[in-house]
Amino acid sequence: MSETQRTVRTAAVIPAAGRGVRLGPGAPKALRTLSGTPMLVHAVRAMARSRAVSLVVVVAPPGGAAEVRNLLDEHSLPEKTEILVVPGGETRQESVRLGLAVLPDDIGIVLVHDAARPLVPVDTVDAVAAAVRDGAPAVVPALPVADTVKQVEPRTGGEPEPVIGTPERSVLRAVQTPQGFDRATLVEAHEKVGLEGEGATDDAGMAERLGVPVVVVPGHEEAFKVTRPLDLVLAEAVLARRRANDDF
Ligand code: CTP
Ligand code: MG
Repeated sequence: MSETQRTVRTAAVIPAAGRGVRLGPGAPKALRTLSGTPMLVHAVRAMARSRAVSLVVVVAPPGGAAEVRNLLDEHSLPEKTEILVVPGGETRQESVRLGLAVLPDDIGIVLVHDAARPLVPVDTVDAVAAAVRDGAPAVVPALPVADTVKQVEPRTGGEPEPVIGTPERSVLRAVQTPQGFDRATLVEAHEKVGLEGEGATDDAGMAERLGVPVVVVPGHEEAFKVTRPLDLVLAEAVLARRRANDDF
């Protein structure tokens, strides 16, 4: 390991400012509980569990930073990990940018991880961080897609949608988080890629637009995103399975 590698620290930025519209009415999604613990706390623990991560920046719902700070203080989290909380923005892209803005100078590698993926295993986090440390400027964990995917001309209100094409499934990957970046690459992407519509849903996609090579490493089925009500059922089942396995 060279002298510079030794001093470069890794931070995780956790965008958690979304409302969770698709989950239905209730508290902001990241604050809803899974087996009694807020989703955000699960997500922070998942990042802090990685030995690579020494700082976690939580991007809270706008106006909710104090509440999130209190919530994190009430839960046990590894002491070696520093945790900052900042208020987020109207879009995920804006929230990530606000998280990047508070990184200290000695952070050289950034993982961006959705609070909505609370159950990502530590091995996936470590694999992404290691790939960046080994020299890849942008790394995303992903899995082959199970369903065949159609491109359509979108229609609203349940009207039949004309199909434009069917990409070959074997070359498609469904991407997850944490996505890992060389800090300068990610900051440049957020500076240069403007906000369009609802903003980018994926940081790696922004890096791609700058011409940065992006690589995929194996994701994990437990890194799924909690988006709709059925995902809560699945997440609680995963936690129950983990508890049962720990008892043996
Ligand atoms: N996010 C954010 N700031 C926003 C919007 C989203 O930090 N303005 C975060 C969410 O909190 C989540 C992640 O980005 O951790 C992925 O977004 P998504 O799954 O779409 O969550 P929500 O936007 O909360 O859900 P929905 O789109 O159903 O409202
Ligand atoms: Mg959203």
